[in-house]
Amino acid sequence: MGKPSSFLLYKISEHRFPAAFKGFFYFLPISLALTTLLLIFIYITTTAYYVTNSHAQTTLYLETLPTISSSNYSLDHTVTTFPFDQTVENDDLVADPSSLATLARTSKWLGNLFGLTNGNYTNNQEAYHDRDLFLEDYKQMNKSLKIFVYPHPKDDPFANVLLPTDYEPTGNYASELYFKKSLMKSHFVTKDPNEADLFYMPFSMSTMRTDPRIDVEGIPDFVKNYILNISHKYPYWNRTGGADHFYVACHSIGKTAFDKSFVARLNVIQLVCSSTYFPTYYFPHKDASMPQVWPRIGEPTNLLTSKRKRLAFFAGAVNSPVRIALLKAWANDTEIFAHSGRLQTPYSEQLLGSKFCIHVKGFEVNTARVADSLYYGCVPIILANHYDLPFTDIVNWRSFSVVVHHRDIPVLKNILQRISIAEYEMLQSNVIKVRKHFQWHPSPIDFDAFHMSMYELWKRRSVVRVRLTPSVEFM
Ligand SMILES: *[C@@H]1O[C@H](CO)[C@@H](O)[C@H](O)[C@H]1NC(C)=O
Ligand SMILES: *[C@@H]1O[C@H](CO)[C@@H](O)[C@H](O)[C@H]1NC(C)=O
Ligand SMILES: *[C@@H]1O[C@H](CO)[C@@H](O)[C@H](O)[C@H]1NC(C)=O
Ligand SMILES: *[C@@H]1O[C@H](CO)[C@@H](O)[C@H](O)[C@H]1NC(C)=O
Ligand SMILES: *[C@@H]1O[C@H](CO)[C@@H](O)[C@H](O)[C@H]1NC(C)=O
Ligand SMILES: *[C@@H]1O[C@H](CO)[C@@H](O)[C@H](O)[C@H]1NC(C)=O
Repeated sequence: MGKPSSFLLYKISEHRFPAAFKGFFYFLPISLALTTLLLIFIYITTTAYYVTNSHAQTTLYLETLPTISSSNYSLDHTVTTFPFDQTVENDDLVADPSSLATLARTSKWLGNLFGLTNGNYTNNQEAYHDRDLFLEDYKQMNKSLKIFVYPHPKDDPFANVLLPTDYEPTGNYASELYFKKSLMKSHFVTKDPNEADLFYMPFSMSTMRTDPRIDVEGIPDFVKNYILNISHKYPYWNRTGGADHFYVACHSIGKTAFDKSFVARLNVIQLVCSSTYFPTYYFPHKDASMPQVWPRIGEPTNLLTSKRKRLAFFAGAVNSPVRIALLKAWANDTEIFAHSGRLQTPYSEQLLGSKFCIHVKGFEVNTARVADSLYYGCVPIILANHYDLPFTDIVNWRSFSVVVHHRDIPVLKNILQRISIAEYEMLQSNVIKVRKHFQWHPSPIDFDAFHMSMYELWKRRSVVRVRLTPSVEFM
């Protein structure tokens, strides 16, 4: 008793098979395993370094997955050059990319598994983790994604909360309304719930917050009743317990919205600006981060001619321990300009005149400052621990921003001064490449904040329909 199971196997085999047969019993599995290894090895050696497709000469290089950034920012790795340096609009994809993509994925995975790739390589200079795979997926999403928007009667007393698309997005939390308006104009909406991948519950956090009938305290009750209503009227909620349903919120008030629908929150997809994985209500694999962006029209005209004389810049309310620490360390510095409160000079002047623009966690991880700095071509410094940065599964934040841990605030200047001119130019050129993903448009255009958010939703759509017993309580 208590013998390992291999011993048991041995005893059984000895008992059952004659001695001549015993050799075969061991030979068979071992030779099978060796053959498999040999096949895998041949497969890797023939596919590992590049996979070419004769039609388009697209070359996918083998690379290791980018490492998660540590608190010590460093750019001094040797990096292999990639064959393309175009922007996303210039795509030249092959006719049947999905098999190529699968092959590339597989060889990457195998390469990592068997340690055949150079483990020292980190992708620090490419704006995208894998631009080609993203483009293929995006096109697929653009073609196939369908959203069913829960309707409501025209005379619903809360029509203003549900689909208010007749006024213009304004202010700090404009992203929520931009999303809603963009979606209703887009080809993603379907009237047929049977072809829908996802179901949108169009209640608006910013409207509920200011509607005196609901107010901040009333939001959890409203959401609870809303879910009760749709789960009685339609069969879709009960089918998945809400796992193919989503809502959108830019104000961090969204995190209390499901306080009375606890299980629902564990299932629904949350597309939110305050995407912090530190508290327990946001789950990066299920929920998605949406950028917080001020409404603005056109491009800043003086983007390329601007002289960035200042090392780094921050201005804003000092309403959090991190901001207090920043001001304490750098308030009187000559190179880092950290200002408490509103500026006397235009905000845009500072964003255009600084090399780095600091995004610091306030009450929440999200502020509009990341999008502001990208818009003005300034390299963002992210000082917001646990921030699930927008589109982080697509864009390589290490290639266009500097992520700094709170505890490194005292050495911030050191970190920035270690970045060479060439490295800065790389960071800034990637800022220019990715900034289109952080802009909304009155009519959505490809790869803008709306389409990127749709892509994130699509990535989280349910593939499996779960049948649940009616006795399960979903609230
Ligand atoms: C960061 O750098 C300091 C000083 O070079 C070192 O002591 C520390 O271990 C580094 N931290 C990490 C996470 O690499
Ligand atoms: C990684 O870098 C170290 C030090 O530069 C080197 O000795 C080692 O051979 C490299 N490993 C690979 C797999 O290239
Ligand atoms: C996405 O779909 C729209 C509408 O069908 C189309 O106009 C647009 O070119 C598509 N974009 C991409 C990148 O496939
Ligand atoms: C739920 O339905 C009831 C009855 O139709 C209605 O009075 C109420 O406003 C609805 N609540 C929500 C949040 O949609
Ligand atoms: C969904 O489940 C709830 C709770 O079990 C039930 O009351 C409701 O009638 C169901 N909805 C539909 C459309 O069957
Ligand atoms: C900055 O300078 C002012 C005026 O000299 C001084 O009162 C303040 O304490 C200084 N702040 C810091 C953080 O050093």
